Amino acid sequence: MVILSSPRYLGLEIRVNSGRHSATLCKNELFVPIWNPMSLLRSTFIRLSQNAPIRRFSESSTLGRRMSSRFVAGFRIEDAMAAAHALGSQGLAVTLDSLGENVATPDQARQAAQVYHWLLDAIAPSQLDANVSLKLTQMGMDLSPALAEEIVAGLVQHASIIGSFVRVDMEGTAYTQATIDMVRRLHAKPEFRGHVGIVIQAYLRRSADDIAALLSDGIRIRLCKGAYKEPPDLAFPDKADVDRNYIALMQMLLPSGVFHGIATHDPAMIQATKRFAREQKIGLSTFEFQMLYGIRRDLQRSLVQEGYRVRVYVPFGDEWYPYFMRRLAERPANVLFLARNFFRK
Ligand code: FDA
Repeated sequence: MVILSSPRYLGLEIRVNSGRHSATLCKNELFVPIWNPMSLLRSTFIRLSQNAPIRRFSESSTLGRRMSSRFVAGFRIEDAMAAAHALGSQGLAVTLDSLGENVATPDQARQAAQVYHWLLDAIAPSQLDANVSLKLTQMGMDLSPALAEEIVAGLVQHASIIGSFVRVDMEGTAYTQATIDMVRRLHAKPEFRGHVGIVIQAYLRRSADDIAALLSDGIRIRLCKGAYKEPPDLAFPDKADVDRNYIALMQMLLPSGVFHGIATHDPAMIQATKRFAREQKIGLSTFEFQMLYGIRRDLQRSLVQEGYRVRVYVPFGDEWYPYFMRRLAERPANVLFLARNFFRK
């Protein structure tokens, strides 16, 4: 239901009802200036990504599970590995992500880590160029940073034994410094060197300083724009500034001699990266582009054909809802795209 509450502001109230579940998102949470409908849609999806009742409802509904399949590779490890093999046969590398975040108990954190151990066991004998990505809040960061570090250390050790790699995704700014500190501590252990990496978000004003520190340790970085809702004192509110910063940060990464991931679907960022690599005579095998499963598959394939390395982030699992909502926030037109495909045979 949409409510126009004043000439300047648009409030949105969203209710979901079914026989067993119902949920309401408070309309006051959604107030944004009416002259920016894109911003309204984006913040609506970001708010929805954090709404527990709607999440429970969606994750258990057949409709929700079907809609999510465009961006999520399935619910089991076998589904993720099947997707990885299909991508591998097209010359694409993968990073596998067992969906989940903000676990509530230490047992849930350990169970989430166990899935990653099974994944690494599945990757080890395969011929795939595959590694894993995880979130610290899925490993118990909200409960005990020490527990999360112990769990992640176990996974990095496993990855180092099989010659693979653990990427720690970057979440909201409440976790930025703690994530950087933890990855630097883990990477400082000689046996973990090169087997753990991090993500830096170009929308954050602090990111150039963070990259300088991480590069001084030789840590592999995935550069992305950033997918969370952050205040303007921490993050650039305008896309043009985010894009400018993305290019500046990419130009710090590529000549560093460390293997980094340029994670974007934005043709302008990709062109800028290609141009910079060409001008600086940076070899195409010294970095990779990274994209999300189901997004710009045409671009993924054409980059491989041009000789670039491309890695696809393959999420899977039951807890797909917050991830899915962040993808809709990035491109609200995806709602129409999904609806059209849903009704197609
Ligand atoms: P931008 O959002 O400016 O979009 C540029 C163009 O790309 C669009 O015009 C459209 O063509 C296409 N596009 C973008 N998003 C799309 C979508 N959802 N559906 C369809 N088309 C789309 N974020 C974070 O905060 N922490 C993290 O750890 C990660 N990890 C991560 C890994 C990988 C491999 C990728 C590719 C991205 C992330 N992200 C992330 C998400 C990232 O921060 C960002 O939100 C998205 O990549 C969207 O930004 P783009 O750079 O694609 O550009």
